[in-house]
Amino acid sequence: MNAPFNHGRAGVREPFSAFVCDDMTADLLKPILTEMGWQQERIYRGGLRNAVQSLSVSASPSILFVDMSESGDPLHDINALAEVCEPGTVVIAAGQVNDVRLYRDLVASGIQDYLLKPFSADQMRDAIAHAQLTLAGPKPTDHANDRPHLMTAIVGVRGGVGASTIAASIAWLFGDKAGRSTALLDLDVHFGTGALALDLEPGRGLTDAIENPSRIDGLFIERAMVKASDKLAVLSAEAPIHQPLMSDGSAFFQLQEEMKAAFECTVIDLPRTMLVQHPHLMHDVQATVVVTELTLAATRDAIRILSWMKANAPQSKVVVVASKVPASGAPEISRKDFEQSIERKIDFLVPLDVKSAAQAAKLGKPLAEVAKGGVPGKTLSTLAEELIAVIDAGATEQKGPGKSLLGKLGELKSLLPAKKVK
Ligand SMILES: Nc1ncnc2c1ncn2[C@@H]1O[C@H](COP(=O)(O)OP(=O)(O)O)[C@@H](O)[C@H]1O
Ligand SMILES: [Mg+2]
Repeated sequence: MNAPFNHGRAGVREPFSAFVCDDMTADLLKPILTEMGWQQERIYRGGLRNAVQSLSVSASPSILFVDMSESGDPLHDINALAEVCEPGTVVIAAGQVNDVRLYRDLVASGIQDYLLKPFSADQMRDAIAHAQLTLAGPKPTDHANDRPHLMTAIVGVRGGVGASTIAASIAWLFGDKAGRSTALLDLDVHFGTGALALDLEPGRGLTDAIENPSRIDGLFIERAMVKASDKLAVLSAEAPIHQPLMSDGSAFFQLQEEMKAAFECTVIDLPRTMLVQHPHLMHDVQATVVVTELTLAATRDAIRILSWMKANAPQSKVVVVASKVPASGAPEISRKDFEQSIERKIDFLVPLDVKSAAQAAKLGKPLAEVAKGGVPGKTLSTLAEELIAVIDAGATEQKGPGKSLLGKLGELKSLLPAKKVK
């Protein structure tokens, strides 16, 4: 049932039909149809409801625009449309509901694009261009094989624990070492270091995406992502800090979707505040690296974030990494006490290696590359292999040390602060 509109290729049929609900939308479409050389008579009234009725008795166009504004149950009506619409038609929907869940559901039922009303002529032109690209054939992607996509998230339990260092390293290991085309998506939009860590200019791609989510498509991804190498591309930002950047999260979700189509691996550097604000970003993540330090504050936050993961992303394998662990002298909290508190083992320990970290910063190279002969490099390399094994084994359920967390959740509860994060 996935993408029912996109099966097969269009034969000879009308290039375009629109079913609108109001004059404003009709007036916006008319000049665009003229530009495209399409007939204006192809704009009908009655929105989605009329589209379903008409297409049940007539041939479907190549590109179909449907206005869902008058639909009480858009998902139900879109599914009704899928039943009467011929395979190969690309559907652009428009509506007044600004809800990322609806957007997800529409995309899952085969809609190519959803334009939030009121939208501009340029947005409509973009949507048509995107639709034409889809009709022209499969998207060009680097991977000609059938390896499933791997989506990983790296979450630091607190700032400064070394999460972004690990994210850049993992992305580099996936791309340059494992030879899988990889996207590094740095969602710290104001203070991201994804580009900086790889000696790149972040560009405006991510900021543009947030300001204008409807523009995100395969072409956008190709243009906006900054290439670090043949196999590694980065989307990161240094968004201006004099004004807040508003997003309902739909831009991030769309970026995830497009990256899934264009790359073999996605590594999301996901600030913990984003988990709270946009929990849906974790829905498709197959493996999450929770990065912590061995300190009291980090212990508290590790407990809370691991509990959050259990409730909100149970499908994701969780790997706990303690980073910046001093080679000599006791850390603030011993490994044993930390593990007892979080009720599971630490999977990897990345030692504090000030010299390599400084070298990495100076050279604009990932820590895994700079310290590849040393313990940090080897540890990160094993971590990357373990993450890739999550999809290669076809298993996303908890394995190994992770099991104890699930098994002992009852006990873990008693460690949680009274107001549990849900
Ligand atoms: N293993 C390590 N040893 C020494 N310094 C490290 C290590 N990992 C990261 N750092 C340094 O710690 C600082 C914070 O790292 P960063 O990855 O940006 O943390 P976060 O993303 O969790 O805020 C950076 O200056 C980085 O170079
Ligand atoms: Mg960071």
